[in-house]
Amino acid sequence: MDFSRVEFIKGVYSLKELPEPIWPEIAFAGRSNVGKSSLINRLVRRRNLVKTSSRPGKTQALNYFSVDERMYLVDLPGYGFARVPKQMRSSWEHLITGYLERRETLVCVVVIIDLRHELKSQDRELVDWLRHHQKPFLPVYTKADKLSKNKQMKNAAALDAALTITPDKRVLFSARTGQGREDLESRLANYVEN
Ligand code: GTP
Ligand code: MG
Repeated sequence: MDFSRVEFIKGVYSLKELPEPIWPEIAFAGRSNVGKSSLINRLVRRRNLVKTSSRPGKTQALNYFSVDERMYLVDLPGYGFARVPKQMRSSWEHLITGYLERRETLVCVVVIIDLRHELKSQDRELVDWLRHHQKPFLPVYTKADKLSKNKQMKNAAALDAALTITPDKRVLFSARTGQGREDLESRLANYVEN
């Protein structure tokens, strides 16, 4: 799998705009501003394939990228962004849960969590929902570069406990330094190749 052979396909604003389900796909979910788009850029080794922003709420569509003409990566809009009007929030929820529930080619949801903080209620809700619906998911703890090695270990253990997972079931990551990129790449390739 060549993750650098990547192309933007389209932004999807409603379920009927989804591309034909011709390839397995991996979706990237997480709180607004957690670093989903930055993670994808790092994964595919492009500085600016996906637009990132220090202001939360940058990504508003399901953004589809093809990789190696064999799979799709899907950058999802973030959740937990208080400045979005209530009405808009529920239409996002409708779009995202409808997508997660019904997309038959979805092989893994990467759940991106900020390593600096405790597990937030919306992260917990998403993971509970994914477990309940038996959707494979991979937690990635990001922004590791903002912490000392010691603190990284400590916080990762706390998140593992909150999610009731063992350390081999998640990835420590930094979009800034590239920490964890190869680990993530090989795990994602496995979801598609098996
Ligand atoms: P939305 O699309 O708004 O939901 O945000 P997002 O989750 O796609 O986050 P985005 O990638 O736009 O990053 C948000 C901010 O966090 C930007 O200022 C990034 O530069 C910063 N950031 C993302 N990942 C990392 C990281 O691993 N380390 C550091 N230090 N900063 C990061
Ligand atoms: Mg984004």
